[in-house]
Amino acid sequence: MTQPLVMRYGSAKRDAGILRPPAKDSYVVEATIWDTPAGMSLHRNGAALITGASSGIGAAYAERLARRGYDLTLVARNRRRLDALAARISDETGRGVEVLQADLGSKEDLARIETALKQDASLTMLVNNAGVGAAAPLLQSNVDLMEEMIKLNVVALMRLTYAAAPVFAARGHGAIINISSVAAIAPEMLNGVYGGTKAFVLTFSQSLHREFADKGVRFQAVLPGATSTAFWDTAGMPVSKLPADRVMPVGEMVDAALAGLDLGELVTIPSLPHMADWDALEAARRKLTPHLSRAHPAARYRTRPADA
Ligand SMILES: NC(=O)c1ccc[n+]([C@@H]2O[C@H](COP(=O)([O-])OP(=O)(O)OC[C@H]3O[C@@H](n4cnc5c(N)ncnc54)[C@H](OP(=O)(O)O)[C@@H]3O)[C@@H](O)[C@H]2O)c1
Repeated sequence: MTQPLVMRYGSAKRDAGILRPPAKDSYVVEATIWDTPAGMSLHRNGAALITGASSGIGAAYAERLARRGYDLTLVARNRRRLDALAARISDETGRGVEVLQADLGSKEDLARIETALKQDASLTMLVNNAGVGAAAPLLQSNVDLMEEMIKLNVVALMRLTYAAAPVFAARGHGAIINISSVAAIAPEMLNGVYGGTKAFVLTFSQSLHREFADKGVRFQAVLPGATSTAFWDTAGMPVSKLPADRVMPVGEMVDAALAGLDLGELVTIPSLPHMADWDALEAARRKLTPHLSRAHPAARYRTRPADA
């Protein structure tokens, strides 16, 4: 029997800006809505669409955001895992959870998720998390798999952002969290295509942060270091092979990323002890800006007198 394209869990009603509690209690519009049996305070936050929510970092975001009072739309290919997670989160938090099965490497499936982002007025947050990595260098890599990686890590993330950002801007609020990687700033670490895709995610987020600064749309790029998920199996390097003191538990990583969101950060690097180090790198980059486009080459490149 074919599965329906959309499955909904939980009784919290999702319509623009109005959330109804699953139980009898009354609620107020701002701040706390009601206290759940588990003692969690839920807030009026709208709904978050999370890609790659069937495991790892995406599943951890789903749990945390539900506890923060978001209804959820969970997107990935593995329907069984999505359904199990949705049912559990809905039971535990009372939030409304919707499942959209999609292969974001497929144009048709991607178009369905873009449409959901444009049409679902309850969505106030997009977590662009789905992604795959590779550890092998170019000489041992399959170029077709590299292209698949670019389709997911870059093209899907870009198209979903293009779907969400205009509708969030039209409503004057919304947040887009893009999961990059420390490979964006340390490209020597892993496969070069992977590092390139994550550098795209970082620079895309930085550029959009500037473009949407006065439109009420927040951007955050999260740069995790090695995190304990199935990512490493898919990338061809089991996480057990990495030094334990370099691998962060997935829950800690996502809690730190959400703390960074609360702090208003554009770029969050959960492992980095001193944010001043990132700020120094950014300051050095900005110092270059006035010198990056000029009418003539720098003196060191004027090798022949005729060029001068
Ligand atoms: N783990 C790390 O060390 C680490 C470090 C830095 C950055 N990251 C980034 O974190 C993100 C999440 O990775 P993770 O560590 O949580 O790994 P993961 O556990 O393997 O999760 C990857 C998620 O992406 C989904 N996905 C993969 N291909 C997809 C496709 N074609 N269409 C739709 N969904 C797809 C998977 O679900 P289905 O298989 O069900 O589709 C899964 O939910 C990635 O962008 C990764 O680059 C991870």
